[in-house]
Amino acid sequence: MHNVTMIAGDGIGPEISKAVADIIAAAGVEINWDKVEAGAGVMDKYGTPLPEQVFDSIRKNKVALKGPITTPVGSGFRSVNVAIRKELNLYANVRPLKVHAKAFAQNEAIDMVVFRENTEGLYVGIEHYVGDEAAESIKIITRKASRRIVRAAFEYAVREGRKKVTAVHKANILKYSDGLFLEEARNIAAEYAETHPEIEFDDRIVDNMCMQMVQYPEQYDVLVMPNLYGDIVSDLGAGLIGGLGLAPGMNLGDDIAVFEAVHGSAPDIAGQNKANPVALLFSAVLMLRHLNEKSAADRIEKAVSDVLNAGDVLTVDLGGNATTDQITEAIIANL
Ligand code: NAI
Repeated sequence: MHNVTMIAGDGIGPEISKAVADIIAAAGVEINWDKVEAGAGVMDKYGTPLPEQVFDSIRKNKVALKGPITTPVGSGFRSVNVAIRKELNLYANVRPLKVHAKAFAQNEAIDMVVFRENTEGLYVGIEHYVGDEAAESIKIITRKASRRIVRAAFEYAVREGRKKVTAVHKANILKYSDGLFLEEARNIAAEYAETHPEIEFDDRIVDNMCMQMVQYPEQYDVLVMPNLYGDIVSDLGAGLIGGLGLAPGMNLGDDIAVFEAVHGSAPDIAGQNKANPVALLFSAVLMLRHLNEKSAADRIEKAVSDVLNAGDVLTVDLGGNATTDQITEAIIANL
């Protein structure tokens, strides 16, 4: 029996979280879900979208499965998702881009893993107005965080038998901040060149990287980059493997892991039984591997691939008209 924190989230979160819990149970893995609430829906109850119980539960269990949470645009509370990553020091956002069904992929050779720095950079939103006519956002890149994320990418490459790590940046223009990231990436790469010469290292400017990912994905393996580039590049990657409905992710710290899909709360389809639960399910598969439930993870992945390849029970985002419940039942039937 594993103890895992469950944050269902808002928008489509509750629908897809239930689907995922049902599929995991059907796969025979016993999880004691510690259900905690966060997001806009709990503001009235707790006076904050992120009550302290959420952190208490994750710190205790060390593992969480998290549904998406809406962030109001412009005004309103800051992102709950960013706050969780920051508070728990989940410095690596890891997004594997793997093809599970050829029919939905732009190129079946795609097999990359994006390592996105999760705690600093432009994405953390240190901003203020300058008078009435301008606004300023501050991008901070530190040597410590850069070394930590690049090391995490190399460690993953060693563990998973990957061939190459590519650092992604814009150091030609942002010579100080991205320059520092690249310098540290090269330092860490030099260390690994001594101990693991089989792992190649190179770097790409982020705009070129986007083009290369589309045209020559077979040349890339593990990609490591600052926060905002990782946000954008991983959505590009999601598009290449079949869309947000299929793209999983995890946030890793030294001893805590929070698993969540790349997509958001999809308010346009929330509550309509239309959401694709597979991205959160694949995130849960990463979680099962983390919990050493490898056989259940493999079986779930295979059951999903079978459903996607058969093509007759697909959600709207994949061009079908099946409901969340129907694709969930089809996956369970294939287990
Ligand atoms: P989104 O990812 O929620 O939706 C983009 C488009 O993809 C929409 O048309 C949506 O219907 C579709 N889509 C997304 N997930 C789907 C799924 N599982 N099945 C079927 N279709 C799906 O991105 P958007 O609209 O930019 O953001 C909505 C809200 O989510 C915002 O408040 C945003 O801040 C938040 N968000 C939260 C994240 C998180 O919790 N980690 C990540 C990204 C966004």
